[in-house]
Amino acid sequence: MREESPIHFDEQAGAWDLFLFDDVEWLLKEASLFSSERPTLEGDVRSLLSLDPPKHTQLRAIVNKAFTPRELEMWRPRIQTLVTKLLDDLKGKDTVDIIRDFAYPLPVIVIADILGVPYEDMDKFKEWSDILVEGPKSMTAEAVESLLTEKLAKQKEMYAYFDEIIAQKRKNPQEDLISVIISAEVDGAKLADNEIRAFCKLLLAAGNETTTNLIGNGMYCLLEDRSIFERVNKEPDLIPGAIEETLRFRSPVQAINRFAKQDIELRGHSIKKGQEVVGWIGSANRDETHFLYADTFDPARQQNKHLAFGKGIHFCLGAPLARLEAALAMPELINRFPDMRLPENLQLEPIVSGFVYGLKSLPV
Ligand code: HEM
Repeated sequence: MREESPIHFDEQAGAWDLFLFDDVEWLLKEASLFSSERPTLEGDVRSLLSLDPPKHTQLRAIVNKAFTPRELEMWRPRIQTLVTKLLDDLKGKDTVDIIRDFAYPLPVIVIADILGVPYEDMDKFKEWSDILVEGPKSMTAEAVESLLTEKLAKQKEMYAYFDEIIAQKRKNPQEDLISVIISAEVDGAKLADNEIRAFCKLLLAAGNETTTNLIGNGMYCLLEDRSIFERVNKEPDLIPGAIEETLRFRSPVQAINRFAKQDIELRGHSIKKGQEVVGWIGSANRDETHFLYADTFDPARQQNKHLAFGKGIHFCLGAPLARLEAALAMPELINRFPDMRLPENLQLEPIVSGFVYGLKSLPV
């Protein structure tokens, strides 16, 4: 597509697709030309991800502080302990599913801790975040309809859960992110309950599946060509590079959409006001004009300014957290299981999603 049709109008979806690095970067950076105000589920208020300035700027300022690399360093010992505990539980097993047994629970427990909700509720969390990111590419209209009904039902359940937690924390604030958000003020006013729960939902949906897939895709990239696994095992300094290369080479978020705020001309194509424009991050990150040998996984790659966490005002808030989790998880996995291999005739089962990219399971 990058060569033959770098800007493509998808008649069925009624949306423009952009495939080149420069175009995707431009789409994400030009918040004055493209809006993030996506349609919401019934009864929903917009969260950070789907707001434009000035509201976006105000909300982002509230939560930014909790997600700086320095603030997140506080979580390092807790995440390290969790990684160790999850891996201890796998001792003695012949086959381990890296995703189900490890990469799947880790981010949910971490975000539950940061928000300040009991991690005994982890299974509920996981169920909600899975259903919220599912679909709708390659689905029949009927399947989309039934998924939407299921999403609404789960969302209701999740909101009732958060309403109770918010009420408890209003009475008895703690040192956690929900308490910080409750006490924060925007233009002298506190956030309403529905704005707080929209934020909780966003953190669940945006942070779990994506981080699971970063760890899962990362281990798959190392094991697909086992000489890379062996090299990284011998030279652990390559691990940060392997994480960045995974983000580029098998980007957990493949696409991001925007809506044109005005008529726009792009390389001879006329994008009309209100039309949806999709930036294909997965393609941009393989653009040969930006990355040498773009289709090769190279943990020692020198220039790796990928778009896996987006760009501009909506740049991923959780990027330092995702990087920290992967940086603690991957070396320990490799250390504990230096002989791990992919089974012969492994049938890979990808997640069903139009924009999240990863595997349902990865047995080793
Ligand atoms: C935004 C990717 C992990 C929270 C984004 C965006 C991308 C992205 C591409 C930009 C969306 C846009 O421009 O419309 C990823 C990837 C992750 C990851 C690949 C893991 C490997 C996390 C984590 C959290 C998080 C762990 C939090 C716990 C957010 C939030 C936003 C966001 C709140 C919205 C920021 C805004 O609109 O200002 N993420 N994310 N993400 N991400 Fe992440």
